[in-house]
Amino acid sequence: MCGIIGYTGNKNALPILIDGLEKLEYRGYDSAGVAVVSGGKIRFKKRKGRIDVLKDSVRSDNLTGTCGIGHTRWATHGEPSDQNSHPHLSLDQRIALVHNGIIENYAKLKDQLKRLGHRFLSDTDTEVLVHLIDHHYSGDMIAAVNQALLEAEGSYAICVLDQNSPDRIICAKKDSPLIIGEGNGEMFIASDIPALLPYTRKVYFLEDGETAIVEKSGAQIFDRYGKRIFRKAYTVDWDISAAEKAGYPHFMLKEIHEGAPALKRTIFPRLKSGRIVFPDLDIKELLCSAQKIFIIACGTAYHAGLTAKYTWEREFKIPIEVDLASEFRYRDPYLSKNTLVILLSQSGETADTLASLRHAKAAGAKTLAITNVVGSSLARLADNVIFTLAGPEISVAASKSYLTQVICLALMLISSSFTGQKLTDAVNFLTALPDLAQLVIKEQDQIKKLAHLYHSKKDIYFIGRGIDHAIALEGALKLKELSYIHADAYAAGELKHGPIALIEDSSLVIALATYPQLFDKIAGNIMETRTRGAKTWVITTKSGYKRFADMSDHITVIEDAPDWAIPILAVIPMQYFAYYACIERGFDVDKPRNLAKSVTVE
Ligand code: G6P
Repeated sequence: MCGIIGYTGNKNALPILIDGLEKLEYRGYDSAGVAVVSGGKIRFKKRKGRIDVLKDSVRSDNLTGTCGIGHTRWATHGEPSDQNSHPHLSLDQRIALVHNGIIENYAKLKDQLKRLGHRFLSDTDTEVLVHLIDHHYSGDMIAAVNQALLEAEGSYAICVLDQNSPDRIICAKKDSPLIIGEGNGEMFIASDIPALLPYTRKVYFLEDGETAIVEKSGAQIFDRYGKRIFRKAYTVDWDISAAEKAGYPHFMLKEIHEGAPALKRTIFPRLKSGRIVFPDLDIKELLCSAQKIFIIACGTAYHAGLTAKYTWEREFKIPIEVDLASEFRYRDPYLSKNTLVILLSQSGETADTLASLRHAKAAGAKTLAITNVVGSSLARLADNVIFTLAGPEISVAASKSYLTQVICLALMLISSSFTGQKLTDAVNFLTALPDLAQLVIKEQDQIKKLAHLYHSKKDIYFIGRGIDHAIALEGALKLKELSYIHADAYAAGELKHGPIALIEDSSLVIALATYPQLFDKIAGNIMETRTRGAKTWVITTKSGYKRFADMSDHITVIEDAPDWAIPILAVIPMQYFAYYACIERGFDVDKPRNLAKSVTVE
């Protein structure tokens, strides 16, 4: 979703702002803009479309300045257009503002401001904010920003540029992320870490309700009451190369290839003398003292969470409910101090997941965040946190983060309930797992051919039973996200209750068949589709090969694995299939239409 970048220092801000915007592209956007203070005036450019369009326009205008702000917009209020892009300015063009979030009471504020004579140029909620700041300004910009934010309801991360303070950016945040980066005599502001990696690893996370004055010599942070806060800097340990394509044509392909090292990073530091240990966290106490566990997430993270339902309920013998964050937050689920709510999110910034965390905390439940981003809102607000150590994931469609989420959930299970030989076997398997994943990762050619064969299908169906159904859901999501082929996943036992009506001659059915106890059942379902003319691609294990070879047009075989690990091996062929289907159809893999990496508004 929207991305923010800011710079103040001695260098020309423009290349830094544009580079930052390109690093933020992965969040998803439809227009972009920049503003700098130049010769005592604010100069700006904003353009609908890709950053290249903005770049051309900035170049031809020769914009320069040492302090500026930039923005990638993902339209919510007002269509994508030059006019609706950020920055938005006060009518006298003295103040410029970029915003990520939604000002919910903007219509009311706009009416009030119109009555006071303000004239609006866009259809956005954001423009109201800059007019409100202008309205409250009487010599002290920070006071005006604070007053405006008091009146604004909703979520925001903002940067404000004032032509009267040409080296200074004022920023603030509530429910949308904002990070300040410290360089040598220069300061940066960004929505997330990858945009800052080329310049600094030293960052300060702004908390909700805080405001900061950022000048090239440093940042001063204030709480909501205006009291100065002295925050410790955090040193980011992500490598810059992790946020670059490193010779791969797309981040998605690179990130699928990074699956095995990501697993190693997530597993190995937690293996200690034949056991699994989460430092500073008594995971057994947390899981085993709960009377009910909710796992809450969105998108791919939700599918990772679903896999745990199958393995955890059986071991813990307590109800495990996996829910979509957008549903959970509004359905008033029964929560108590004996409930554990686990929030699963790669970015740690997904608006619905964060709202679910707040909801759970307010109801007195215990909370645990599992996230990939250190310093993310989820990590900071939850009672407990476990980090997936996947490294930065840039491609909008999640791949390696799914692997690390599934393995984190498995590590928690093993650590809390496995003992004796079962524990030893699990630890041995965990040690081998990254290499087993690497074997699947190497097998991309077969899948590439399948994508070539089937990329022009209008619909593709995924089926599975038990945990295979959870994996099938992720396969279908990946395919529709990247190739825009209509794809759905069904619990195979449900076929006869409706979906089988869709099967016709040459339909493609992708069957997940990795769970030995259900081989016979899924075999029956595969046959039901074949007898109606479907082509079948079966993803199974070595022990399933014989069972399914005769009933598949195509078969992919992965290593036998315990069910807590199988999603990791089984999902990789489907990630490749989605990737290559997208390439075959000529779409942009890393920037699928209408989608955003980090959904920071509801
Ligand atoms: C968006 C992304 C998905 C992601 C989902 C949840 O929809 O496009 O790839 O799975 O958000 O994101 P999170 O950061 O909370 O895991």
